[in-house]
Amino acid sequence: MLWETTTGTPEETRALGRLFGELAVAGMVVLLNGELGAGKTCFAQGVASGLAVSTASPVTSPSYTLLNIHYGRLPLYHFDLYRLSQVDDLADLGYDEFAEGDGLTLVEWADRMTEELPASIAVSIETLASQQRKFCFDARDDRGRELLAQIVRRWLPTVKPT
Ligand SMILES: Nc1ncnc2c1ncn2[C@@H]1O[C@H](COP(=O)(O)OP(=O)(O)OP(=O)(O)O)[C@@H](O)[C@H]1O
Ligand SMILES: [Mg+2]
Repeated sequence: MLWETTTGTPEETRALGRLFGELAVAGMVVLLNGELGAGKTCFAQGVASGLAVSTASPVTSPSYTLLNIHYGRLPLYHFDLYRLSQVDDLADLGYDEFAEGDGLTLVEWADRMTEELPASIAVSIETLASQQRKFCFDARDDRGRELLAQIVRRWLPTVKPT
């Protein structure tokens, strides 16, 4: 199942992430792809807010840390694979235990892995203009499809692209 939408501001991207975080269930893996500055971290910040992660634990682009954990309604395992290219290196981080655990695993730069990671949803973000971003959601399992269907029903874009 595929669904596309656009956002016109970082706040709108955070709102989309927040809705995602509110609806997410334990054990999901979400892959985030898009070029530098596309808005992966911005979306992840919204997800954290939807999971009720405290603002005292802000989500940032972890430039050297490959994993940051934030605690909310569910733990949020926020990976950034920009500096990794091997699935083996990811395994060294204990990735599988997080991905198969009871949190929500969000993986920025997931497509740097040579092998495709199993996931409930893959989100790719494309920069259309300075503030316009196109989001493509690809639900890959039953939980992902259920979540995406709920997002489609509930998402009300605040800014309509012209
Ligand atoms: N509609 C939008 N959605 C998200 N970010 C936007 C939007 N419009 C402008 N921006 C800006 O784009 C940048 C997105 O940065 P962000 O750190 O989220 O990107 P990223 O994809 O995580 O990049 P990196 O690969 O470097 O981690 C921010 O400076 C944000 O203010
Ligand atoms: Mg980032």
